[in-house]
Amino acid sequence: MTDFETASKSFLISGKNYSYAMYVNKSGYLQHLYYGKRIDKTDVPFLISAHGENCAPDLSDFNADMLTDAMPAEAGSFGKGDFRSATVIVRRNDGSAMSSFKYLCHKTVKGAVKLAGQPCVRKADATLIITLKDDCSDTQIDLCYTASENSDVLVRNTVIRNCGKDAAEIVKAYSFCVQLPDTCGTYSALRLAGAWASERKPVTTPLAEGELKIQSAHGYSSHAMNPFLAVLAEDCGENNGECYGFNLLYSGSFAITAEVSSNKSVRVQGGINDYMFGWKLNGGESFVTPQAAVCYSAEGLGGMSRAYADFFRGYIINPDYVYKRRPIVVNNWEATYFDFDNEKLFKIIDEAPKLGIDTFVLDDGWFGKRDDDKSGLGDWFVNENKLKGGLKTVIDRCKKNGLKFGLWFEPEMVCEDSDLFRAHPDWAVKKEGVTPSRSRNQLVLDLTRGEVVDYLFNAVSKILKENEISYVKWDKNRDITENFTANLPAERQGEFAHRYTLGFYDLAERLTSGFPNVFFEGCAGGGGRFDGGAMYYFPQTWTSDDTDGLERTKIQWGTSFCYPVSSMSCHVSACPNHQTQRITPFDTRGAIASLGATGYELDLSKLSGEEKLKVKAQIENYKKTDGLVLRGDLYRLCNPFTSNYFCEMLVAKDKSEAYVVGERFRGDPCDHDRVLKLEGLDSNKVYKIVELGLTASGKALKGAGVMFPRLPDCGAWIWHIEEVK
Ligand code: DGJ
Repeated sequence: MTDFETASKSFLISGKNYSYAMYVNKSGYLQHLYYGKRIDKTDVPFLISAHGENCAPDLSDFNADMLTDAMPAEAGSFGKGDFRSATVIVRRNDGSAMSSFKYLCHKTVKGAVKLAGQPCVRKADATLIITLKDDCSDTQIDLCYTASENSDVLVRNTVIRNCGKDAAEIVKAYSFCVQLPDTCGTYSALRLAGAWASERKPVTTPLAEGELKIQSAHGYSSHAMNPFLAVLAEDCGENNGECYGFNLLYSGSFAITAEVSSNKSVRVQGGINDYMFGWKLNGGESFVTPQAAVCYSAEGLGGMSRAYADFFRGYIINPDYVYKRRPIVVNNWEATYFDFDNEKLFKIIDEAPKLGIDTFVLDDGWFGKRDDDKSGLGDWFVNENKLKGGLKTVIDRCKKNGLKFGLWFEPEMVCEDSDLFRAHPDWAVKKEGVTPSRSRNQLVLDLTRGEVVDYLFNAVSKILKENEISYVKWDKNRDITENFTANLPAERQGEFAHRYTLGFYDLAERLTSGFPNVFFEGCAGGGGRFDGGAMYYFPQTWTSDDTDGLERTKIQWGTSFCYPVSSMSCHVSACPNHQTQRITPFDTRGAIASLGATGYELDLSKLSGEEKLKVKAQIENYKKTDGLVLRGDLYRLCNPFTSNYFCEMLVAKDKSEAYVVGERFRGDPCDHDRVLKLEGLDSNKVYKIVELGLTASGKALKGAGVMFPRLPDCGAWIWHIEEVK
């Protein structure tokens, strides 16, 4: 899987369908050779002579340093002739920062390397660690490549070591650098951009000379930009052509750049956002960057999405939960908001089991003095004025109905009107003399401080220990501002944002491992922290606060580019929709929600008899198809951004069954006189589309397709496809 050839000092890493090659060139630099379809070890000499030597600087050339600007380096240096953005920059105490990273040594270790205090790949076949030494200083960097024969994802990260005596400051610490050659075509870049209630919308633009930077400076991955970038070759389509995915397993402020240089090659790199970043590294200390999941696909964006889904399910998500049936919840948020009491909750709880729901989730407002969003965050004790008899009465009512109980927390936040803030005003992120920026009447707790993390761990643990709770929804409803902590000296303030993220990981690790029987769902004002780092702790995340049956197709479509559908928590909510005021049929909302971890977010006691029957039927359907949601392969068929339809299908790994969900948006004359070509089926098998009573070969369903159904505005369809044996 990873090969090192001594004679040529070359490395070949191969996974399921890809190979990644590099070698130590005649000047001692670790030079990139190849990233693409799987090749053999015997091809490496050709790559070296035909590709490598061409752009390897020759040290016998007096001006060799200047030639490094055209060299596809595995790690970009600064100030020694490589004028593209560097991968790592370390400033010494004399102020100098130039670097020239050259090969020193390497080793291969079995399995994955655990990153202390950070999410990381849980298993792997092997990790190749190549150490580069800076010619200009006492800095060394380890480039780590973690690969598995069964995966199309190569996991990358960097370790930066100060081997000198004096302290230095890291000002840029990216996790990976990948060089893509000029192939006489134009690459484009796809990012997942958005906003609150409209997260992860794919935006594709051509890459041209200069640098594209996507980033978050919000203190978490954010609604505005996901920590993911795909670079598409010209021939890349949904299921054909080449593309590369770069997905950071990181929940903090991040950056990913794609830089087209003067020779038209592309340098893609990323990691912790270097904007206002700094990290003091004393002599002898190391800094470990977050990991990045890098993926090559020769089967277009769809192939990349399926590779990422397999990767997250197989290597990142908690194995105890990843393939388990998810709780089918009813959440009271949109049913009651803050305005609830025992009786209102009991009405929902009593109705739930009759419809097939198995968990009741009590959302915001059960604690402290919290009747609106102006007060109470931080006071994690039950508001007995509101819930007579405390949580116990609600849990007892759930138990009587055979339901499990879930609870909402927003651990990282504090309201100024709270006992916690009154006792510890210094625990909030702020700077004396600067008015704190408020958002939703709350401040962020300073998770760079160990005592704050300890307090939160104890406060949440107490509730979890004292009550029968099977599910936690972990919310976070604002950005981080006034990036400063009195906890660190002036020269370490650049560490604040990353240390906050490490504090979040510490809390998440302690709570999830301390309560292994509790299922944790992530949330950040909807989908503000939907990233591969958070997914290590939270098998699913509340995809968006927007539950509109039409808007959700777009949000789930975008999210599926690099995350499994099982990681998307999707609820059916009431109409008119609370975010868009749109009215969509109940069936449509159910159909779209069934493409993820399905739940409900409405007042069950207010549903009509007909709607209740629909909920029952939707849950029965979901129980039939959730195996495909948890384990299947996703094929995106109709793009809701460019057509009048949305359609996706899930196909079993053994191709024995499939599930199609589609929606038509607005009436457009004759738009149903079209053919929908199915994907992912086995050409040689025969299938039945149950709802249509049609039988056809996989070849025919893929090649000739099926006619679109006739539907009203925002009408949806579902098809179950079964193999006929
Ligand atoms: C934002 C979440 O996304 C909602 O689902 C809900 O939990 C509210 N916060 C509660 O404040």
